[in-house]
Order: sequence, then C-alpha cells, then structure tokens
Amino acid sequence: MAQINPSILSADFARLADEARAVEGADWLHVDVMDNHFVPNLTLGVPVVESLRKATDIPLDCHLMIEDPDRWAPAYVDAGAGSVTFHVEAAAAPVRLAREIRAKGARASMALKPATPIEPYEDLLPELDMVLVMTVEPGFGGQAFLDVTLPKIRRTRKLIERHGLSLWLQVDGGVSTATIERCAEAGADVFVAGSAVYGADDPAAAVAALREQAER
Ligand code: DX5
Ligand code: ZN
Repeated sequence: MAQINPSILSADFARLADEARAVEGADWLHVDVMDNHFVPNLTLGVPVVESLRKATDIPLDCHLMIEDPDRWAPAYVDAGAGSVTFHVEAAAAPVRLAREIRAKGARASMALKPATPIEPYEDLLPELDMVLVMTVEPGFGGQAFLDVTLPKIRRTRKLIERHGLSLWLQVDGGVSTATIERCAEAGADVFVAGSAVYGADDPAAAVAALREQAER
C-alpha cells in the first residue's frame, strides 16, 4: 500500500492549519525543517510543529534538514511528530539518535542525500523504521526529479528484504504523477509530494491521483 505524504513546504505558511486540512486522505503531513546551515534555506522549527499538532489530526512526518540532529531531533518528538527523519550526513551518532527517537515514542528515519550511498549504513537498518532516499538535493521544493537516484532506491529495497525487515522506504523531491511510478517500481512505498499537491487546484484530488498512479 502506497502512502502519500504532502509536503507543507509548498503550502501557504500563513494558512498552515487550513493547508493541513486541505489534504484529507493523505497518510502523513511532511514537515520540512531547514536551518540555513545544512541546506541553504530556512523554514520552521519546534513551535510551528507544536501548533500544527494541535491544529490537525494527521500524523506529522518531520524531515530535519539541519545540522546537529543529535541535539535537536528529540524536541520534535516532544512537539508531536510521529516520525522524525534525520540526515545521516549530519548525525554524529545515528544509532544512538535512532534509539532515542524510538524510545520517546516516534518512528525513527534516516535520510540520504542523492550522492550518499546506502551501503555504509546497511548495519543500521534494524535500528530504523524508515529510510528516506532524497530524489533531489534537499533545500527547495519544485525541483526536477533525479533519475540517477533510482538504482539506490532499488538497492535499498533489496537490503531491507535481505535483512527481513519491514521498514518503509520514502522518496522525496520531484515526485509527481509523471515520476511516482518509477519510484514505486524501484521499491519505494512512501511518497512525499510538495508542489504536485499544493500546486494543484484541488490538493486532495492530487493526493488521490498520486496514490492511484503509485499503486498501478
Ligand atoms: C526538499 C524537501 C521536500 C520538498 C519536496 O528539500 O525535502 O520535502 O518539499 O517538494 P517537491 O515535491 O515540490 O519536489
Ligand atoms: Zn522533505
């Protein structure tokens, strides 16, 4: 079953509660946290996640594009995130961090930028609930999907199977009805979409269209 997670990065930040409600039928709301250091863009932090948690029932999938996630990630669980993704390129102690996120009651997830291979992190997979393979360079919505990441999606799916694990495989960046089938075919099962959802006239219909395309 495909999961569709709209990214509020492409939503109207002055109307976040309404924008969260506009994607009824979505599985999780993807919340992009950027610190202007790990990526050259700045978005939102813990107080906004706390407010979103109160404003909507949809579970929150927080994608931390920040330096020092070891220090900051636990606060996002406390703020109400149901899933917290840290970038392995930024984490000092990814095993300890994943265990801490899980111990606090959230799903722990590790993200890889397009040029970061999965193989060095194979042994971490049992510590995780999800791997995020970025399909654009993190930092901005609306970028073109990078086909060069497809082999890594395939290899990651194979490793998950080889270890007999049930963790989810998320893709994020440039996901649309034109690219989602390629991702699903390569083994992804959780799909983040920003501009494809919030750039549409009817965001809820866009979610349904993505789901249909992913499950073909
Ligand atoms: C990019 C973010 C994505 C972004 C995706 O760094 O992590 O979640 O919102 O936007 P689209 O779907 O427009 O590529
Ligand atoms: Zn994201």
